[in-house]
Amino acid sequence: MSQHYQHDVLVIGSGAAGLTLALTLPEHLRIAVLSKGDLANGSTYWAQGGVAAVLDDADTVESHVADTLNAGGGLCREDAVRFTVEHSREAIQWLIEQGVPFTRDEEQDREDGGFEFHLTREGGHSHRRIIHAADATGAAIFNTLLEQTRKRANIELQEQRVAVDLITERKLGLPGERCVGAYVLNRNSGEVDTYHARFVILATGGAAKVYLYTSNPDGASGDGIAMAWRAGCRVGNLEFNQFHPTCLYHPQAKSFLVTEALRGEGAHLKLPNGERFMARFDAREELAPRDIVARAIDHEMKRLGVDCVYLDISHKPAEFVKSHFPTVYERCLRFGIDITRQPIPVVPAAHYTCGGVVVDRHGHTDVPGLYAIGETSFTGLHGANRMASNSLLECFVYARSAVEDIVAQLDHVPMPAGLPAWDASQVTDSDEDVIIAHNWDELRRFMWDYVGIVRTNKRLQRAQHRVRLLLDEIDEFYSNYKVSRDLIELRNLAQVAELMIESAMLRRESRGLHYTLDYPDMLPEAQDTILAPPTYAG
Ligand code: FAD
Ligand code: SIN
Repeated sequence: MSQHYQHDVLVIGSGAAGLTLALTLPEHLRIAVLSKGDLANGSTYWAQGGVAAVLDDADTVESHVADTLNAGGGLCREDAVRFTVEHSREAIQWLIEQGVPFTRDEEQDREDGGFEFHLTREGGHSHRRIIHAADATGAAIFNTLLEQTRKRANIELQEQRVAVDLITERKLGLPGERCVGAYVLNRNSGEVDTYHARFVILATGGAAKVYLYTSNPDGASGDGIAMAWRAGCRVGNLEFNQFHPTCLYHPQAKSFLVTEALRGEGAHLKLPNGERFMARFDAREELAPRDIVARAIDHEMKRLGVDCVYLDISHKPAEFVKSHFPTVYERCLRFGIDITRQPIPVVPAAHYTCGGVVVDRHGHTDVPGLYAIGETSFTGLHGANRMASNSLLECFVYARSAVEDIVAQLDHVPMPAGLPAWDASQVTDSDEDVIIAHNWDELRRFMWDYVGIVRTNKRLQRAQHRVRLLLDEIDEFYSNYKVSRDLIELRNLAQVAELMIESAMLRRESRGLHYTLDYPDMLPEAQDTILAPPTYAG
């Protein structure tokens, strides 16, 4: 039997954005936090480098703002950048108060017994401003926030719950446009339950799984973006897919990132013959922004016909390497690579979705009652290329800002009542799951080949043709068979892929992460690519 639930706030996603929002809301509210797998299955848990923030006295808000604008290729919204950076110190203070064990700078410990935190560097940053917990910052943040969440009686943490679609007044044929809940597949019971909520938050992460090779965990399938689109929200700048320059290249290493902080602490990128090459591409060499480094690696790999390049930190003292990068050291050692003595084979892989659901300063979308925070949103912070470690920062700042907006409306928003149950009367069990598996593979492969680091009109047209065929097939499947996690994710990924391709086709220039051989130059005026669904209420 399917169930009905009622919550003041339904948070779809248990990563940095979702947990921060849940913890910041007043304790008298009844909150559900959903995760489609176990609670740690988002990208947050895997974040390595850290969180960018203005923490050092020698650093300034102006400098962090300028670096972000510079990395963003002229497309960042300066007000969003300024807002985020101005709130960076208080966001970090909040994390410290929650108990996140950031790495201390032992050389700087103060005489009064206090201590400073170690700040590292990453590409695009002109100062050391990345606070971190060794090279496993995401796990440290996630574990701390989860522990705090578990102490709150008003927060229900629900695992194995996959949101299928949002419920809006418009979809129900009621007067009004509000989002009033969601249909959610309970993977334990196999039923689709109905969640009534006064406020619904999409904190569902990115969509990098749309590519064959990615640093992201399996669930990064753009569910929030696709659900918001179907509910009538605009999406922005989805052509900007960030490829992280250095993921471990090894046949058995699925999605393992080698943090940019290695380059921040002096690691060199090298060709198979040991030659350094980044100086040929940018004066900042290994610390150029990611779009430049990833394209340089792609260029060298294609020029030489090699499978990978190498990242070398073996010239640094072994103790330094092991203490700063214990996770990378251990993981590489498991594959027979001792990074204190040997270079690491690396390749670029899809890493971050810069675009997303269009939101305002408070994470509010085009649909009343619906918010999008974290990687699923498009705030204008990242422009055409996200600067390293600005993503987690955005999760904290916008989650906290969304709370202010929700609190201001609490007295005026009643609990929605009488939502219809999910109708499964017309569907049967699928006997052809091979179609889902095949379509997953096909989609991710043509996105990698045709909508990757370097694009052309022809490749984009091919991708568009194929994604439309897939969408037809998936729609038919979706109408006839019971939903499963794989089917829901495939439907969403294909939807987001179509939006990415359309956005890329609309951008007739090369800017930031969008590089096309047909329009290699940057246009004088920077413009966002905003797409509106047929149901957009304007
Ligand atoms: P996630 O942490 O991805 O969480 C998404 C949540 O949504 C999950 O709980 C998932 O189960 C849930 N969900 C999704 N769809 C559904 C659905 N349909 N129904 C129910 N639940 C759903 N950024 C930095 O700033 N610094 C770093 O050092 C850094 N390192 C990174 C390293 C790696 C390997 C990766 C992959 C990313 C890194 N990033 C880093 C990026 C950053 O980690 C992410 O952008 C950020 O963690 C996203 O947080 P989030 O809360 O938006 O989503
Ligand atoms: C990394 O540690 O290299 C990832 C940082 C990020 O994605 O911001």
